[in-house]
Amino acid sequence: MKINLANIKKAKKLLDKRECVAVPTETVYGLAGNAYSDQACKKIFKLKKRPKNNPLIVHYFNIKKLMNDCKLNSVFLKLYDQFCPGPITFILKLKKNSKISKVATNKKGNLAIRFPKHPIIRNLLKQIEYPLAAPSANISSKVSAVSSADVKEDFGKKIKYILEGGKSSIGVESTIIDLKNKPTILRLGGIEIASIEKVLKKKIIINDNPKKISAPGQSKLHYSPGIPVRLNVEKIKNDEAYLLIKNTNKVKPNYYFLSKKGDLKEAARNLYSTLRKIKKAKYKSIAVQKIPNKGLGKTINDRLLRASKY
Ligand code: TXA
Ligand code: MG
Repeated sequence: MKINLANIKKAKKLLDKRECVAVPTETVYGLAGNAYSDQACKKIFKLKKRPKNNPLIVHYFNIKKLMNDCKLNSVFLKLYDQFCPGPITFILKLKKNSKISKVATNKKGNLAIRFPKHPIIRNLLKQIEYPLAAPSANISSKVSAVSSADVKEDFGKKIKYILEGGKSSIGVESTIIDLKNKPTILRLGGIEIASIEKVLKKKIIINDNPKKISAPGQSKLHYSPGIPVRLNVEKIKNDEAYLLIKNTNKVKPNYYFLSKKGDLKEAARNLYSTLRKIKKAKYKSIAVQKIPNKGLGKTINDRLLRASKY
């Protein structure tokens, strides 16, 4: 992807004025604002129609800039070395003198932080004096956006500017790992649990379906395409769209493939755009073939399960 410096300059100018701008990342597009500004963070909540108690992820260029705001620990440093920049988000304790807006954190003493890899947001982050609060750039509880066209579809003219960055290469959100105490996965995502376990040399607790919800992103209804989704379907109903993991010989107009040959990374990359495509084709519901529950297939299944609670 070619970097257009004039576009980045335009985004910076708006962000400097505490406006919100949509930005590309390798996972999904984000709706970004100055994380040190109450005003900018309030705008994000309003645009997204996001419940006020659902805190924002804050994006940094590198560890040096993070040190002003968060307490680091040894597990974090290991995972940072291995996976950053990349599709992983850490929950860390905030420093007392951190400048992060209390609007972003919901006044809690911890913060979700991430170092995105997409070259355009990295270039932007390098130039600005503050980190970027940026939840996924979609209306709350709906499917995330993986292209500038998706963002436009959700927000129209309500967003001042969308920084173009092509299609997101991972296509599902980051993996979230809570490092306040014992490492715990809060959301499956772009990095496989097995890769994290390999680095830490131990099994990690997964708590992505807690009885008591600490973060609304863990709530049951999420990632909804706006029409019913049925899982593990072998026989579809007449007027349903059929979402399949790989291309088959029996191509029909209502068949949608996530990948050519069943590659799970490719399937994850195509998941949200395909759900949007089906919705736009005016199908009343989506039947999903069984997806292998390994690697990124686990993340795909997590999102589809939540989408099926519609
Ligand atoms: O890939 C991603 O993570 C994308 C890109 C734009 O970086 N961002 C993203 O943000 O998915 P969002 O807001 O849609 O999802 C973040 C999730 C939410 O479910 C939120 O509840 C949770 O992270 N979260 C945020 N701060 C938290 C905290 N301090 N403790 C626990 N969960 C937190
Ligand atoms: Mg989201």
